[in-house]
Amino acid sequence: MKDDSIFELSPQDKTAIDTWLAQYPADQKRSALIPALHIAQKANGGWLSEAAMKAVAVYLDLPQIQVFEVATFYSMFELAPVGKHTLCVCTNVSCLLSGSDEIVSHLKKRLRIDFNETTENQQFTLKEVECLGACVEAPVLRVDEAFHTHLTPEKIDALLAELEKKG
Ligand code: FES
Repeated sequence: MKDDSIFELSPQDKTAIDTWLAQYPADQKRSALIPALHIAQKANGGWLSEAAMKAVAVYLDLPQIQVFEVATFYSMFELAPVGKHTLCVCTNVSCLLSGSDEIVSHLKKRLRIDFNETTENQQFTLKEVECLGACVEAPVLRVDEAFHTHLTPEKIDALLAELEKKG
């Protein structure tokens, strides 16, 4: 990954990470890695650049590879710039059996993008993800940090309208 961007954790970011660190033994800084990555991702405009991951590694005194491993494992971390809202649609078995294919094609048609693409107005990025752990409420979509369940094309339309209205 070639990334020449510059990133520094702000004093506020560090304070927020310190709040997490305070919950764990001093020699277990790695326990705060996931919340620290969330903080860095938010501070970096919604995605984790190499510089942002390095800053987290330095602050938590962890090998950079450990930070990269975690950031690249979880679908909630973005490794490239994304739109204002990230729509993560689950296509695993329970969701598939409950109609996620219809949800996917409706989303693609409405947004005029494919998976891993962002709308021209930079509002939405569409992603396909593995099970979101809410199978009993399939089909499921995560929009940023909120779950939307028992989806239908009509619910998708209402949700997109609400997000577009918010701007
Ligand atoms: S299969 Fe979709 S949430 Fe589990």
